[in-house]
Amino acid sequence: MNFIHDELERLKSEGLYRELRVIIEGEQGGVVKIGGREIILLSSNNYLGLASHPELKRAAILAIERYGCGSGASRLISGNMELHERLEEDIASFKKTESALLFNSGYTANLGVISSICGKEDVIFSDKLNHASIVDGCLLSGAEVKRYPHKDMDILEKFLKNSSGFKKRVIITDGVFSMDGDIAPIREIVHLAKMYSAMVMVDDAHATGVFGKNGRGTTEHLGLDNGIDIIIGTFSKALGSFGGFAAGVKEIREFLINRARGFIYTTSLPPSVLASSIAAIKIVENGHGLRDSLWKNVGYFKEGLKNMGFDIMGSESHIIPVFVGDNHKTVEMSQMLLREGVFVQGIRPPTVPPGKSRLRVTVTAVHRMEDMDRALEVFHKVGKKLGII
Ligand SMILES: Cc1ncc(COP(=O)(O)O)c(C=O)c1O
Repeated sequence: MNFIHDELERLKSEGLYRELRVIIEGEQGGVVKIGGREIILLSSNNYLGLASHPELKRAAILAIERYGCGSGASRLISGNMELHERLEEDIASFKKTESALLFNSGYTANLGVISSICGKEDVIFSDKLNHASIVDGCLLSGAEVKRYPHKDMDILEKFLKNSSGFKKRVIITDGVFSMDGDIAPIREIVHLAKMYSAMVMVDDAHATGVFGKNGRGTTEHLGLDNGIDIIIGTFSKALGSFGGFAAGVKEIREFLINRARGFIYTTSLPPSVLASSIAAIKIVENGHGLRDSLWKNVGYFKEGLKNMGFDIMGSESHIIPVFVGDNHKTVEMSQMLLREGVFVQGIRPPTVPPGKSRLRVTVTAVHRMEDMDRALEVFHKVGKKLGII
């Protein structure tokens, strides 16, 4: 077991050691309880505050009373309940696709979809900053993987030009990049895909519920009606619930039901989670007020950080990276902020490239002005102390 000890020591010496230190004692929200203290939370993907919304809670409780706690089996055995089918119809209608299929998380959606759609004779073009679940799905598929520099359409085109020997070409990108908060050039990707007969898959985990007039995601935000073959999403972020999905034409759903091992060989999502997700879609579809609050808060906080001299790394969204660089300093900054009543998690390699450690700040629709002002004050104090600003 020496190798485990040695690896843990290495992680500690390089400032890459991770531990489950922070425990949220009550429900999720803009302000949470940690160690008995009220702490301003700026680290959550609960962008619209739905994780503790009364309608999601009520839906879950009613579903437990009516359907019980577990589904008892995988969808293809006897775990296909009416709530699964209803939620999939709601997703398809929300995303304006022909159909949708649930997965047990966004992570398994990427693994299941990519590894069933692509195989040894295919090539995948994947943005270098795509989420780890896309990277893992690509590895599992056995396909040739060409990772193009972040959003570099010239290199992507070069790769596509040289891909004639492969059976299928698939371009995969995050919609909004999870650690940088910038938006993928999806319009250009769709254009290239048409030119070189490639499929397009967009992981809209962070844009769903947030981007676009009706919260449909990057496609709505960019005014794209077609050209994307598969949209991946999750209920675990702005929708405040849990579970992933893939949306596309009916035959893709049929194909995945038959081929995606991450769908086939696992017990289906439980009724309470499905009911919360159904409630969440309804709220998000009519959630213009929530999105207005989110964008107002995001704008305010970004301006505050920029005015103090923090580098927010080209964020174009509600995900606001605050650049630190050094791993140890990133951890120190996160700890200092927490001591002052603000929780922001530090993000280090391998989640981000070496030398690019940062704090990943997320302001939500439910933060109050006084929370943001207090958090900005603390950022200023800590940033100055550490020589970051
Ligand atoms: C871009 C992206 N895709 C997929 C996932 C995984 O989603 P889930 O948390 O539902 O597994 C995440 C986040 O965790 C993500 O950031």
